[in-house]
Amino acid sequence: MERTSRIPGFYQLPVEERVAKVAAFAGLTEEEEALLRSLDGLERETADRMIENVIGALQVPMGVATNFLINGRDYLIPMAVEETSVVAAASNGAKQARVSGGFTARATDPLMIGQIQVMHPAPDAPDRIAAGKQDIIDLANAQDRVLVKLGGGARDVETRTLDKDMLAVHILVDVRDAMGANAVNTMAEACAPLVEELTGGESRLRIISNLADRRLAEATAVFHRETVGGEEVVDHMLDAYRFAALDPYRAATHNKGIMNGIDAVVLATGNDWRAVEAGAHAYAARDGYAPLTQWEKTPEGHLKGTIRLPLAVGIVGGTTKVHPAARVALKILGVQSAGELAEVMASVGLAQNFAAMHALATKGIQKGHMRLHAKNIALTAGAVGEEIDRVAEQMVKENTIRVDRAEEILAKLRRT
Ligand code: MEV
Repeated sequence: MERTSRIPGFYQLPVEERVAKVAAFAGLTEEEEALLRSLDGLERETADRMIENVIGALQVPMGVATNFLINGRDYLIPMAVEETSVVAAASNGAKQARVSGGFTARATDPLMIGQIQVMHPAPDAPDRIAAGKQDIIDLANAQDRVLVKLGGGARDVETRTLDKDMLAVHILVDVRDAMGANAVNTMAEACAPLVEELTGGESRLRIISNLADRRLAEATAVFHRETVGGEEVVDHMLDAYRFAALDPYRAATHNKGIMNGIDAVVLATGNDWRAVEAGAHAYAARDGYAPLTQWEKTPEGHLKGTIRLPLAVGIVGGTTKVHPAARVALKILGVQSAGELAEVMASVGLAQNFAAMHALATKGIQKGHMRLHAKNIALTAGAVGEEIDRVAEQMVKENTIRVDRAEEILAKLRRT
């Protein structure tokens, strides 16, 4: 089978056939396919080892976004999310980007920051830290020989004077394919006594920073004027972008839409979505809260989008390896490094933002939401099996999607 993520009509296939197509694309084993089909990714024993006081598990649907072409490679992208339209919108954005060659993405080295808070440092503490930098790096690296062997490890030490009695010492650590919190926190704790000695102060907090602004991913794509819907739509989308660039109230929602896509991939791959969220919004706020994407018109009149944000995600360690469904999701993605995963996520965020802005600048988003939303409302009203589609269809036809109306339609259906 040709390895393409362009699978027309994928959304119309029964779940079984979708799984078969994804399995063929990603070379899944029979067990992996069965795991997807069973919706039963997490056994009680595994869940009980992951957190405390386990009583169950909450399932979230996992879909696959199609059409993604990133740096010339086709990806099917697992997305775990409870919100209607997110997977469809990402697939749609990717389909339109594909016309002009898809996404070009890159990621910086995976540098995370470990912070040591120092109280009452000597006045020349920053100089003393600079002089003792190599000792701190060596001590940090002594904590994680495996990481160093893999080509990672502490790279640099910086200081930031925050107040007359407070200094922050930053250890910059290349965490390779890990998210990095464990490695960095261990290093920060281990280095704190040496930092105290050098600064003459007292160390307090020793913890990773989620403002991972040394670990950025970037993606760009051009959306052809004609596929977008013509010059007027391009201009309206640019006005939509300007709205976000000028107004934090709009920027928050603009970025929320971006994170709809990114978080879904973060969750599907067992990564820490709170860390990614914290990083994204802190980065967006570095010079006053701003959009995470930038949009412009090319000389030919096409729409060009760029996204840049911190993405502290890993493909080794933690839940990525413990959760069986996350393992399968990573296999479907087929990424070889954490940087490649970040490139995929950035591309999804850009596609998601394009799709949201396109809908908002044209027909609005409620229409697209309607069909699936109607099904959810039908379910809420108590519809089961075939009733769900029939109640939903009737509500869409009437343009009235409300639980009370769903209940009426359902009651009538059951009487006939
Ligand atoms: C809804 O979850 C996301 C949107 O509000 C994003 C946006 O407004 O750009 C549609």
